[in-house]
Amino acid sequence: MCGIISYIGKREALPILLDGLYRLEYRGYDSAGVAVVNHDGNVGHIRTTGRVDELASLLAEHPIQGSFGIAHTRWATHGAPSVANAHPHADCKNSVFVAHNGIIENYAHLRAALEREGHKFASETDSEVLAHLIERALVLVGSAGTLDDAVSEALRHVQGTYGIAVVSSRHPEKLVVARRSSPLLLGIGDGEFFAASDSSALLRHTRRIVYLDDNELAVLTPKGYEVRNIRRKPVTKQVELLTGSPADIEKNGHDHFMEKEIHEAPEVLRNAIRGRVLHAEGTAKLSALDASVEKLSQINHIIFLSQGTSYYAGLVGKYMIEELAGIPAEVVYASEFRYAPPPLNEQTLVVAISQSGETADTLEAIREAKRHHVPTLAIVNVVGSSIAREAGMGIYNYAGPEIGVASTKAFISQLAVLSLVAVWFGRQRNLSVSRGREILEELQQLPHKAEKVLSMASRIHTLADGYASHEHFFFLGRKYNWPVALEGALKLKEISYAHAEGYASGEMKHGPIALITSGFPSVVLAPSDSVYEKSVSTIHELKARGGKVLAVATEGNTEIAKIADDVAHIPQTLEILSPILTVIPLQLFAYFIAKKRGCDIDKPRNLAKSVTVE
Ligand code: M6R
Repeated sequence: MCGIISYIGKREALPILLDGLYRLEYRGYDSAGVAVVNHDGNVGHIRTTGRVDELASLLAEHPIQGSFGIAHTRWATHGAPSVANAHPHADCKNSVFVAHNGIIENYAHLRAALEREGHKFASETDSEVLAHLIERALVLVGSAGTLDDAVSEALRHVQGTYGIAVVSSRHPEKLVVARRSSPLLLGIGDGEFFAASDSSALLRHTRRIVYLDDNELAVLTPKGYEVRNIRRKPVTKQVELLTGSPADIEKNGHDHFMEKEIHEAPEVLRNAIRGRVLHAEGTAKLSALDASVEKLSQINHIIFLSQGTSYYAGLVGKYMIEELAGIPAEVVYASEFRYAPPPLNEQTLVVAISQSGETADTLEAIREAKRHHVPTLAIVNVVGSSIAREAGMGIYNYAGPEIGVASTKAFISQLAVLSLVAVWFGRQRNLSVSRGREILEELQQLPHKAEKVLSMASRIHTLADGYASHEHFFFLGRKYNWPVALEGALKLKEISYAHAEGYASGEMKHGPIALITSGFPSVVLAPSDSVYEKSVSTIHELKARGGKVLAVATEGNTEIAKIADDVAHIPQTLEILSPILTVIPLQLFAYFIAKKRGCDIDKPRNLAKSVTVE
C-alpha cells in the first residue's frame, strides 16, 4: 500500500526514481510525486494526482536534475487523492521532504501541537506531520546535529506505523530512511544506494539488499550506508541476495500481469512442489516442520490467519488438515484475531498465509499470537518479507513476484503448499503411506492438468463475453469448492466491479435464492467429487427458478451439459486437490469479463496490491 523508492549515488536520480515508481505502482496508484536534490541544495518537487504516467509527463516538461531524491506512489488513507495530499510532503521552509507509507495514529494531536507552535500545514494527510516534526527537531538538535539525529528525535513522538524516506536541501548528499511495521529495504549498488518499500523497484539495479527491521533507521550517502536502532546504536546488517530476474516483473507478451500470472499456474505448482515430495515415505519434506517435529506432535488445534484470497486458501487448508490429519482447524480473519483472539495454548499452531508477507492485519495477528507464546508458521510468497521473518517457522511458495492486484497464481501455490502441510501432519498422525503417496503423486500431475485447463482459455473467453453484461452473480460450491466459490466471486468483483457473491451451495435455499429471477447468472462448481449429486441438485434448483448456470465440471461428465446453460471442464483429480484446478476457469472468467467491460485489470479501482495499513 503506497510505494517508496529513493536513490543516492552518481547517476541522475530522476530516471531511476520514475522507473522505481512504475514498478511500485501496483501498491497504490492515486497520486505520485518526487523530490530531487542537486549538489547546490536546490530541490525539484513535483507531484500530481493519477498514475505515474501523469507524473512522467509533467517531469518531461519540467525535468529535475540531481543525484539523490525520493519518490512515492500513493494509496490514499487520510485525505482524498489531490496534489496537496500527494507525497513527498515538505516542511514550512520547503527544505525537508518526506515520503511515508503507513499511518501516524496520533497525527491529529501532533498536528494541533505543531500548529500551535506556528507550523503551517498544506495537506490533510497524517504524513505531513513527519516533515514538520523533523523541521522542529532540526532546531532542537542544533547546528551540531545531523539530519539523522533530527529524524530519530522526530520519530520519538510518533505512534503508528511508518516506512519513510527523508531528504533535506540543507543536508545534501544524505538520505535518511526508517521503518516501523511498514516494509523498507536498502539496495546496495556500486557507489550508489537505494531504499524502497518493495524489492521489485530494485531488481534492475542491484541484487544486494538489506532488510531493515522495525525501529531501525539507515543513513545513506554516496560513500556508504549505516543502520542504527532506536537507541542510535549501530546495527550490523546482513546483505542478502535477491533471487528472480527482471523478466519476472514484465508482462512477457501478455496484455495484463493478471493474465500472465494465471498462465503461470503450471510453473508455480512445479515450484511449490519441487524437492518437497518424499515418494517412498508418502510424505512431504518441509524443513521448517521437520526441524520442529517434537513440538508439532503436540499440536491439537490449528488456526489459519489471513485476509482476502489468502483467507480462502486457509478455508481449503482447514478442510485438508481436518481430513488428512484429524486436527481441528479454524480460519480467522487476521484483522479479527488481533482484537478477539480465540483461546490459545501451547498446543495451538497459528498459521499465517500471505502472498506479500506484508499485510498489516496478518503481521499484527502473528505478533499477537507470539505474545501468547504459541508456535507460529508462515506460508508466504515474498522472500524476506516481514511475516516470513517474524513467524517462528516458515514455508515459501516460490511463486515469483505477483504484480496483478488480483491474486491468482499465489492462491494456487498456497493450495499446493497447504496440501503438502496437510500430508505432513497427516503422516505424523494416522494417514497411511499409500494415501499420502496417492495425494502427492496426484499433486505432481497437477502442473500438466493445469496446462490442460489453460488450453481452454479461448473457450472461457467466449463464455465470459456472453456473461459480461450481467451486473449480479452468484458463485456456489460445496465442501472443498465452497472457498473456490468465494474466491471466484472476489476475483470478479475486484476487477470487473460486477456484484458477485460466493455461497456454500447448501446455504442458497436459506435465503439468497430469493434473488434468482429469469436469467440471473450463477457459476456452480460441480466437479465429480463426494458432493457431486448435491451440486447437481443446486443447479436444478437454480434452473427451476429461471436462473442461468455456468457449471465447472469434470471432463467426461455429459450429464451437467444437459442441465446447465454452459460448462467449463477440468481434468479428473482427487477431491482434496480439486480447488487447484477449479479456480483456474474462474480466474479466467473474471479476467475476460473485466476485459470485455474495459476495466483497468491490473490496477482496479480503490485497491492496492499489498495492504500495509490496518
Ligand atoms: O498479501 P496477502 O496474501 O496477505 O494479501 C491478502 C489480501 O489483501 C489479498 O489476497 C487481496 O484480497 C487480493 N486483492 C485478492 O485478489
